[in-house]
Order: sequence, then structure tokens, then C-alpha cells
Amino acid sequence: MSEILLQAENLVRSFAMGRRKLDVLRGVSLSVAAGETVAITGKSGAGKSTLLHILGGLDRPTSGKVLFGGKDVYAAGERERSAMRASKIGFVFQAYHLLPELTVRENVLLPALGLRGAFLRGGKLRSRAMELLEMVGLAGRASHRPNELSGGEQQRVALARALMNEPRLLLADEPTGNLDSHTGEEVLQLLFGLVAGRGLTLLMVTHNDDVAARCGRNIVLRDGLVEGSGRE
Ligand SMILES: Nc1ncnc2c1ncn2[C@@H]1O[C@H](COP(=O)(O)OP(=O)(O)O)[C@@H](O)[C@H]1O
Ligand SMILES: [Mg+2]
Repeated sequence: MSEILLQAENLVRSFAMGRRKLDVLRGVSLSVAAGETVAITGKSGAGKSTLLHILGGLDRPTSGKVLFGGKDVYAAGERERSAMRASKIGFVFQAYHLLPELTVRENVLLPALGLRGAFLRGGKLRSRAMELLEMVGLAGRASHRPNELSGGEQQRVALARALMNEPRLLLADEPTGNLDSHTGEEVLQLLFGLVAGRGLTLLMVTHNDDVAARCGRNIVLRDGLVEGSGRE
């Protein structure tokens, strides 16, 4: 059996809505083996983004646990958790989230700057950022600003940025949601190619069944729970 990379145990996430409480996740458990590609689907508002953020160490659950490589993510202090996130997990969001005042190359480089020893490894990191830009076909745009690029190009930059620290896990939230179908297809081919080539583990939120079908497994969220068991 292959190694379990990510495990969620009975995740609950509630939001206070005035006096009332909105229970978005009501006990989600799942496990993802290293090297798996998994789609998370469900209706709009089902809690897909909320779940992805919690799994990625970005949002503390109301209760329940997330284990990454067997380590309890939210038991760690804020610092340790953000170091874990930066070095082990790459994120791609629907709306790219590139910083407009930085160049394309600086955006790709950015996740590495928070890592220990980044200053000493500056030259290496710059050349790694360029290699990644080559891989996504945008080396020629390295000194441009994000707003000079098309949506598809910006998402390819975001993909390069997500891989900057050589994460084991890639989390993508509707990565083609803002793109037309042709451009979306190009981004998906690139994404799946990079995931396969590097043996990455992929968790991708999508509401598109054709996109979900390209993943090895589909986890469906409904009424705050995983339909079925969430395990193989
Ligand atoms: N920070 C928050 N405060 C209050 N409600 C939230 C917050 N984040 C998400 N929600 C609510 O939780 C539900 C699930 O949201 P989300 O996870 O974004 O769904 P999905 O990604 O499946 O469309 C929605 O009803 C949303 O309004
Ligand atoms: Mg969402």
C-alpha cells in the first residue's frame, strides 16, 4: 500500500452568521495517498474551497484534524505551520492571485523568499524560477507585469509559482474557472503533465465533471459531508 500523504479526520467548520451558525463542513474524513490525483466536486456553496483551505493549512477547522505526512497540521504553531505550508504545498487559485507590482519572475520566486537560507541561495533560486517559467512556456515574459499577460498566461505563472519550492502536494481551486474552454484545456494539460512528470499529489476542486474525470478519484461534498466514505 502506498504512503498516506494527507488525512482529514472528522473536519467540522462552522461560521457565525449573526446569532445563527452556518455548518459548512459537518464531519469530513478522507485520506489521500502520495501520488494520487483527486477531484473534489459538489454544488456551489458545498464547502469545497473551505475544505481545500483547511487541508492546505490556511484555515483552522472548528474541530477535527488534518495530518500531513502523519503530522498534525493545526497542532503546530503558526510559524511552523506556515513553514510547512510553504515548503510542502503549492496552491493554485481560480483568480491567479499574482502580485501586480512584481514582475512575472519575481512572482514565481516569491514563495522561496520565506524559506530558511533563501538569501544565500538567491542565484540558484533565480535560475530555478527561470527554469519553471520555461517549463510553462513563459520565459520570454519574465520581466513583464502580470496585467500585461492574458488570463491563461497568468494561471501558467501561478502554476510555476506553486512549484517553486518543489512541493509534494498541489492544491488547486477551480484553476480553469476564469478561463475559456480552449485556454482552460491548455492549462489543464500543462498541470496534469507537470503533476505526472513529478509524481506530485494533486487535490483539485472543480465543478466540471469532465475535469474531475481526469483525476484518479472523485470526492463529492454534499450537505457538509463526503458522499460515500472518501476512501478507496
Ligand atoms: N469566512 C466565511 N464566513 C462566513 N461564511 C463563509 C466563509 N467562508 C465560506 N462561507 C460560506 O460557506 C459556504 C461554503 O463556501 P465555499 O467553501 O466557498 O463553497 P464552494 O467552494 O463549494 O462553492 C458558503 O455558504 C459560504 O458563504
Ligand atoms: Mg469555491
